[in-house]
Amino acid sequence: MSELWYKNAVFYEVYVRAFFDSNGDGHGDLKGLMQKLDYLKDLGVDCIWLLPIYPSPLRDDGYDIADYYSILPTYGALEDFCELLDAVHARGMRLITDLVLNHTSDQHPWFQSARSSRQSPYRDYYVWSDTDQKYRETRIIFLDTEKSNWTWDEVAGQYYWHRFYSSQPDLNYDNPAVQEEMRNVMRFWLDLGVDGFRADAVPYLFEREGTNCENLPETHEYLKSLRRFMDEHYPGRILLCEANQWPEDVLPYFGDGDEFHMGFHFPVMPRIFKALREGRADSLVDILKRTPEIPENCQWCTFLRNHDELTLEMVSEEDRQWMWREYAPHPRMRLNLGIRRRLAPLLDNDRRKISLAYSLLFTLPGSPIIYYGDEIGMGDNIWLEDRNGVRTPMQWTNAPNGGFSSASPEKLYAPVIDDPQFSPERVNVTDQLNDPQSLLNVLRRMIATRKAQSVLGKGKLQWAQIPTPLPSLVAFHRVDEIESILALHNLSAQSQPVSVSVLPQTTVLHDLLTGENFTPADGMISLILQPYDYRWLKEIR
Ligand code: NOJ
Repeated sequence: MSELWYKNAVFYEVYVRAFFDSNGDGHGDLKGLMQKLDYLKDLGVDCIWLLPIYPSPLRDDGYDIADYYSILPTYGALEDFCELLDAVHARGMRLITDLVLNHTSDQHPWFQSARSSRQSPYRDYYVWSDTDQKYRETRIIFLDTEKSNWTWDEVAGQYYWHRFYSSQPDLNYDNPAVQEEMRNVMRFWLDLGVDGFRADAVPYLFEREGTNCENLPETHEYLKSLRRFMDEHYPGRILLCEANQWPEDVLPYFGDGDEFHMGFHFPVMPRIFKALREGRADSLVDILKRTPEIPENCQWCTFLRNHDELTLEMVSEEDRQWMWREYAPHPRMRLNLGIRRRLAPLLDNDRRKISLAYSLLFTLPGSPIIYYGDEIGMGDNIWLEDRNGVRTPMQWTNAPNGGFSSASPEKLYAPVIDDPQFSPERVNVTDQLNDPQSLLNVLRRMIATRKAQSVLGKGKLQWAQIPTPLPSLVAFHRVDEIESILALHNLSAQSQPVSVSVLPQTTVLHDLLTGENFTPADGMISLILQPYDYRWLKEIR
């Protein structure tokens, strides 16, 4: 069973640079993160996901890797990483790292050699062409910066292919040597003891003319081979898939339970925001109904926000415009096909809405992941470039620099949030730890409750019967062979009387968050939900 640990785990996404600066140079580092592990443990985190920590020119904040086998010097050294891993494991937590398969930095020695000569043994590590007219059906992802997926390289005298920034040339997976190289990268980190990988941008590994170059059979075949390799040598470690796709297109990434252990559920996320703003459940319900069953040993990974823009790739054009109007009224809030804002500002810093969003995250199918800082309701800074506005220093205390670093403020890698509503004087970990009603403490209780109810990790979703439908009510059971929980969410700003059927033989409903008990009558439970209220009702038989 313990090999399925990820099915009932709570994940936490750490941006090392932003988390805690141990040496006063203005950048967070691995030693700094190590000092904060008890905080994460107390929050209830089971598994930490680290954004890329490798040497990089940082044109895409580390997703442009120049060396897969060491650590960015400002973050520390490999010894620090090993120490961190030991400290994580000593606390009974796990740690996964980012595995960037699709591309390297243009500063990687492979690319430097490849561009220098057609005879280079590395030339064929990348995708070259004499024209920029190949693979024309492929979309551009970083729309605001890139005009084409091909860039002319003066030194090489050819175009090279890239799905992201032009400083991130795509690797050529048709070359068996590339396939082998990346397996070696995995082996290296697995041998150090990491518990798995969040695999970046996996739909784009192969290119084929006449396709959109996404989700190709060759890609699945290679990914399956990585999984076989892990199962054989490193059982219990996981692969988490980043494929920003529709649920039916993510499904193949689970294979027959022999490809990815987990996959992010991208489309559910914007719909949580839409549902909250509209006070209507339908778009959320629709996408969950459209979400196929996945193999028993697999799990969705759900999130509200992450280090990227709130992506609107998986919504209709109409909904995208609507989301932009509602959630990104200022042009600076928009980036590519998304919104560069954090959770709390998006939800009007309204504690009821933020808690409700988290309640959905913790009760819907999937293992939840929390983005650093969103557990205390940190703000953002839309005036910073790219996605940096949602990557500002973690706010630990109300001291200068939010207690993140002892450096002088101008030496920080990014300014601390100074919007009075979200500045460290108003939003910080220490104050929230001391306040039993703080967002942080509400979340800690939710997490502890969720983890004690394995049905929330492994149970199936069953829609509740509501005799008089109420558009603003999200009501579902999570059910396994032995237990069930009825989860109710009121998306509306009004209090609502609700009546919902309970599952057969339920004698009492026990509210897991408040301790209240309710007795159903004629197989129904009737109660009043306050504005943005949520209930986790265990159905006792
Ligand atoms: C997805 C990552 O989340 C994002 O931050 C990055 O820019 C792209 N992949 C390219 O690696």
